[in-house]
Amino acid sequence: MKKIQISVLIATFGFNALVLAVEKCPDTVPDEKIAQYKQAIKSFGGNLKQELQQAIQTGGLEQAIDVCNQRAEEITARHAKKNNFYLGRPSLKVRNISNIADDWESQVLQQFEQRKAAGEPVENMDYAQVINEQGKHQIRYMKAIGTDTVCTSCHGGQIKPELLEKLDKLYPEDAARGFNIGDLRGGFSISENMDACE
Ligand code: HEC
Repeated sequence: MKKIQISVLIATFGFNALVLAVEKCPDTVPDEKIAQYKQAIKSFGGNLKQELQQAIQTGGLEQAIDVCNQRAEEITARHAKKNNFYLGRPSLKVRNISNIADDWESQVLQQFEQRKAAGEPVENMDYAQVINEQGKHQIRYMKAIGTDTVCTSCHGGQIKPELLEKLDKLYPEDAARGFNIGDLRGGFSISENMDACE
């Protein structure tokens, strides 16, 4: 009898301790998380740009297309794994169909387009939100990607014929063309599960 009471006590106490240990999820994304995401994106974006520049230098733009084609997904996966969150480069007009924006990303990219139309520079734009889907909390974050001169050689309105030929072959449904300098090319997107709160 005594034994049973004790074990009930432990069970009750243990359970309460567990409940107390689980914090309530914040409604807004903590600043330190945003700082961490910005840092991860800086490293990821820097890595991509460095590979691109190196490829252009060694084999010209045509060879750089192959490098983007073969390496971009691998680099993305490596940075996502290192940080233990989802990482993507969605756009409203994609070249690689595995970069198609999901609903949240698509809404945020549209919001960025509106902010750009209102005069905000693309480089500084970001957006963060805590999403609660059936009790499962997730942080979603997006940082805008602009278009500069080098990008227009493969994403602009006047792509050289030999590059176009190659792009057509690799991406028959390529929509990532016609961008001008300063345009919103897409975004770096992060989503991270918040397992330690509910
Ligand atoms: C040498 C050609 C080339 C250049 C230069 C280039 N890209 Fe790309 N880009 C590609 C290819 C090929 C893909 C598809 C492969 C991938 O990265 O997933 C791509 C994909 C992307 C994507 C993912 C969305 C999508 O359309 O699939 C973004 C974002 C992007 N590029 C941004 C840029 C930016 C910003 C620059 C300039 C800093 C740039 N690119 C320069 C060839 C290029």
